[in-house]
Amino acid sequence: MQPLESLTREAQDLAGKTEHSISWHNKGISENEAEVARQMQICNACRYCEGFCAVFPAMARRLQFDSKADLNYLANLCHNCGACLHACQYAPPHEFMVNVPQAMAKVRMETYTDFAWPAPLGKLYKNNGLTVSLAAAFSLALFLVLTVLSTGKLLHEPLAGNFYAIFPHNTLVLMFGLTFGFAVLALGIGVKRFWSEITPGQATGEAIGEAAHNALRLKYLDGGHGDGCNDEDDRFTLRRRRYHHLTFYGFMLCFASTSVATLYHYVFGLQAPYGYTSLPVILGTVGGIGLLIGPAGLMWLNLNRSALHGDAAQKPMDIGFISLLFLTSLTGLALLIWRDTSAMALLLAIHLGIVMALFLTLPYGKFAHGVYRSAALLKWSIEKRMPNRLSLGSE
Ligand code: HEM
Ligand code: HEM
Ligand code: SF4
Ligand code: SF4
Repeated sequence: MQPLESLTREAQDLAGKTEHSISWHNKGISENEAEVARQMQICNACRYCEGFCAVFPAMARRLQFDSKADLNYLANLCHNCGACLHACQYAPPHEFMVNVPQAMAKVRMETYTDFAWPAPLGKLYKNNGLTVSLAAAFSLALFLVLTVLSTGKLLHEPLAGNFYAIFPHNTLVLMFGLTFGFAVLALGIGVKRFWSEITPGQATGEAIGEAAHNALRLKYLDGGHGDGCNDEDDRFTLRRRRYHHLTFYGFMLCFASTSVATLYHYVFGLQAPYGYTSLPVILGTVGGIGLLIGPAGLMWLNLNRSALHGDAAQKPMDIGFISLLFLTSLTGLALLIWRDTSAMALLLAIHLGIVMALFLTLPYGKFAHGVYRSAALLKWSIEKRMPNRLSLGSE
């Protein structure tokens, strides 16, 4: 790391924030984006963290940080691993106050809000804890009321797992199809607008493959050395990466289970309940176990993470999303275990209420990180294959 005195004049100037935030404001750049720009100027002079992740080589391809699109791209490329904070000699309490993961997290929230579709719903990202709570209360109430309307009571004589005696299959397909379809549409429009703003260039098959690999392996949670990221202190661990893998792949398997069950229903004419050794149940059970352990671990890490990491204001959003994932799996597995009892309708209503809350909040909560990060990773894979006009740093 270079000593303070050898930083460029511009970077030293940028340590005095106030004057600069006024001039940034005039360029339509928010306070949080101006803060990322200030820190990137300092990092660009220092370059100590070059090998940690993609953010620093992407930064090194730029001399100026006065484009909103560039700042949003860099923010979404950051994986909040914490490595550059713990390595930095200009981190608080140093007067330069360099805290890259925190500055990037604040801008990520603005990306989600600014690109949200429809735009007014972008506000739901703020106070997201309340959004998730209201969605859960509404959805649970809805399915409990529908159950009582359907059966006249919450507990009933055992129905041998005949879920469609409570809710007709077509009703469920319509309700969940519309909610999930809307989530895909809203996130799709948001990320498409983000994509056109960051002007990525032509995606080759090689670039797409590399970006997918980096997203699916969470490459940038390895700290650049393979030992992992930081959580509560400057120790490196692979826990966050592993719990995320359990969460992500658990979620995908549950999703595959629901898709296979839909295929069974419509293509093969096979009605639920399916046997314990059938494909939908095996996929759902294996995925469900991953989706219990993963979110439980992420919750534990989140609650114990250093207060300097990320943006404290986003904790309710993180915790709300983690809780919904955990509860989706817990209620699904409870339904599987007790599907032959008189509590089946009640358990089904609770599972469906939680899934509905999850689907309703998908486009306006933490789930957005996966979509925007994947887009930023793809841009990086495209950009690094383009000629570097500066050629000052290594990639
Ligand atoms: C599209 C909306 C969904 C509907 C209608 C639905 C319905 C059901 C039903 C009827 C069961 C009981 C299956 C059985 O006992 O044989 C179940 C179980 C389960 N669900 Fe869902 N579910 C939905 C979405 C999800 C999602 C998105 C997840 C997680 C990502 C999930 C996770 C689980 C798990 C882990 C189980 C227990 C394992 C199994 O039975 O396969 N469900 N779900
Ligand atoms: C495929 C693209 C994805 C990428 C690149 C990605 C990356 C990340 C990264 C780097 C973090 C840690 C930093 C942060 O808190 O923002 C994170 C957190 C998280 N991710 Fe993902 N993710 C993806 C998709 C998903 C999906 C599909 C799920 C679940 C359905 C998910 C669940 C979570 C949860 C629950 C957290 C919160 C953990 C915490 O607060 O510490 N992610 N993700
Ligand atoms: S985070 Fe600190 S150590 Fe790392 S490049 Fe920036 S100024 Fe240098
Ligand atoms: S927190 Fe991690 S991912 Fe983000 S910029 Fe720093 S080293 Fe890169």
